[in-house]
Amino acid sequence: MLNNKGFDLWADDYDKSVGVSDEDGTYPFAGYKEILNEIYNRVLTGSVHKVLDIGFGTGTLTTKLYDQGCTIWGQDFSERMIELAQKKMPDAKLFQGDFSKGLVKALKQQKYDAIIATYSLHHLSDEQKVTFLKELISLLHEDGCIYIGDVAFENRSKLKSCMDEVGEEWDCDEIYFVYDELHEVFPQMEFEQVSFCAGILSLQRQVLK
Ligand SMILES: C[S@@+](CC[C@H](N)C(=O)[O-])C[C@H]1O[C@@H](n2cnc3c(N)ncnc32)[C@H](O)[C@@H]1O
Repeated sequence: MLNNKGFDLWADDYDKSVGVSDEDGTYPFAGYKEILNEIYNRVLTGSVHKVLDIGFGTGTLTTKLYDQGCTIWGQDFSERMIELAQKKMPDAKLFQGDFSKGLVKALKQQKYDAIIATYSLHHLSDEQKVTFLKELISLLHEDGCIYIGDVAFENRSKLKSCMDEVGEEWDCDEIYFVYDELHEVFPQMEFEQVSFCAGILSLQRQVLK
């Protein structure tokens, strides 16, 4: 598993290497652009847009939202990623902090219309994901929604099939999302598979009637 220094080293080459994996349709970033575009469109429906990005990286998605007038808040533990993202979004409130220990204080004191996390939360164990998602839900405005785009599967048997297909390229240090297991804890969670290895999980604050 990469630590913050590992991400510092990856930062300048990140957009390029992700783009290549997405264009080739290979694990783990097959579907990356489609996922980010879909989340972008969903965040921009509605009127007020205060957005929290967890593990924003180089700011590929948040910069687009920022350019559309969203107020951007974020947390990442890589100094270099923060530097690159802050250059693109001078007014964004970006904080350094390890999300496995929760959110930094300043971010906990806000409420958000949308909370997004793309290809970042697979660094948490399944238990940590549940605890963290509960914390994030409490920071949503009433109509708010959490959007997670990541390597993700409808159930564990689909994850295992993908792992077999990918073979030795599979990263055993990363803990990918399994929708039906999370759905038991969060009945309002929804999931769409976008590519053979990735999808979007969305979690409203309130169950829609
Ligand atoms: C694969 S990149 C994804 C970046 C961006 N969200 C995207 O979709 O391109 C993962 C990001 O999460 C950050 N990250 C990973 N583990 C983290 C942790 N425990 N705390 C804070 N940030 C973390 C990394 O520094 C990196 O910027």
